[in-house]
Order: sequence, then C-alpha cells, then structure tokens
Amino acid sequence: MINPAQEREEMLSLLRHPNTGNRLQFDDSSLEDTMTGERFLVRDGIPVMLRKEDVFGWNRKQQKAYDWGSYLYDLLYKFGLAKRWLSEIAEMMAVRTGDYVLETSVGTGQQLLNLRNHGFDGYFFGNDISYGMLRKCRKNLEKWGVRAGLVQANAEALPFRDEAFDVVFQVGGFNFFNDKEAAVNEMIRVGKSGANLHIIDESDTRIREKSGILTRLISRFLPDSDVFKPPVTLIPDNMLDVKEAELLDGNFWMVSFQKPDKG
Ligand SMILES: C[S@@+](CC[C@H](N)C(=O)[O-])C[C@H]1O[C@@H](n2cnc3c(N)ncnc32)[C@H](O)[C@@H]1O
Repeated sequence: MINPAQEREEMLSLLRHPNTGNRLQFDDSSLEDTMTGERFLVRDGIPVMLRKEDVFGWNRKQQKAYDWGSYLYDLLYKFGLAKRWLSEIAEMMAVRTGDYVLETSVGTGQQLLNLRNHGFDGYFFGNDISYGMLRKCRKNLEKWGVRAGLVQANAEALPFRDEAFDVVFQVGGFNFFNDKEAAVNEMIRVGKSGANLHIIDESDTRIREKSGILTRLISRFLPDSDVFKPPVTLIPDNMLDVKEAELLDGNFWMVSFQKPDKG
C-alpha cells in the first residue's frame, strides 16, 4: 500500500509538460516546468495541464458539454446497457496485476471501477479534458475505494513521459477528437514496449439507426460521415496484432493493437 506522499512522487515521475516534454516539480498549489518555469495550477489535487488556447473546435464543445453533463453522466451507468457492455470491455482488456494503466478520457471513472470489479488490479491513471468530469471522478473513486492519479489534459497531447504504461485505453471520447491521429500517436508514445492499446467508441449504426430521435437529429449536423468509423487506417504499420471488433451487438467498435518490443 503506498501513502499519499509516495503517490505524489510517483505521479511526478510520470508527468511531463504536454507540449515540451520537460520534467515538472510541485510547489504549493502548482506544477512548475523545471526548464522554463511555466506553471500549471493544481485544482483540488488535480493538475490542470491544459492551456485555454489549446482547447478549441470539437474538443471545446466536448469540454463544455461534459462539464455540464458531469452532474447526470453516471445515470447512464445506472440505467443504461452498462452491465453487459462493461463486462465485454473488461474481458477484452485483460489487465495484469501490477500493470500501469492509463485511460485517456477517464470521465467519471466508471471504466476504472469496472476493471477493479473484474478483479484487475493495476496502478490506474486517467486524464480528461473536462474538469467537471474529473471532479466527479475523484468523488466516485473515493466512494468506491479505487485509487487513481487524475490530470486534466487533452488526449491529443498527453502530459506523461514516454513508455510509462502497460495498458493505454480510451472509451467514448475518440469520435469527436479534433485530431484523432495525434491521439493514437500519443497513446503509442506513452505505452511501454509491448503495451496493449485499446480504443472504443460508438458506431455509426448506433448513432444513425438505433438511437433516439434527438440523437438522430443531432447526427445530421455532424461534420462528416467518417466521424463514427473505427480508426484502423490511423494505426501505424509497425504496430502488432491490430484487431477490430464489434461490441454490444454492433453498437460500439473496438480497435486493439500492441506496441512492438524495441528488440
Ligand atoms: C462518453 S464520455 C466517456 C467517459 C468514460 N471513458 C466512460 O467510459 O464512461 C467521453 C469523455 O471524453 C472526454 N473527452 C472528450 N474530448 C477529449 C479530449 N480531447 N481529451 C480528453 N478527454 C476528452 C469528455 O470530457 C468525456 O469525459
């Protein structure tokens, strides 16, 4: 069992400036870039590693929507398709005891609880673009007794060092990222050699055919028809064991692959 001071040290050893990659140091209420002196606020224990000017386009829309939606989001898990869907995800991810696991849009922490409930015991970390979701996540994790390091950051510019995690995954944020290729490359960068990487999101079928009238109406205004396509073409050729699967009767897609050993 590690104590809060060790946890903070460990978080610091993993964190880097999201744009320069420089190391950081804690002072009272902020993190400081050791080379440039640039500071990032730490809000109620959650480092804010995101500059306002870097959040625009669909990322900004998502951030605003989820800041508001964070109050109601967990109802989806209470009353939704959750149980079956969560089991399918956990089984596919197969985290090993002691793995370092990063979820790159952690939301309110439901996937971390899911992994814990399926007996997977690793060191969990999560980032999200929405502070509202992270605040709820922190409260949830406390209530559930799940430990995780949280940070507010864009999945397209992760504030972690290279080769830090055994498993990197993403559920439900990907379809609307501004730069999906950057998000895939960031997952690969922070994954260790041999890391397992998983990306999951809603499918075209669900949005355009199976969902309610409101979602179908909104989907008419979406930027293009490729929004809900699994990103297989974005996975670099040197990645191993690239798999595409359908989850929950085709409502969601999943793309999994492995980062090669340096060898
Ligand atoms: C549908 S929720 C999924 C949350 C969680 N993964 C789950 O399965 O319950 C989508 C999440 O993606 C986050 N998100 C959207 N764009 C993001 C980005 N560019 N970087 C990080 N998080 C992002 C949202 O704030 C939201 O919390």
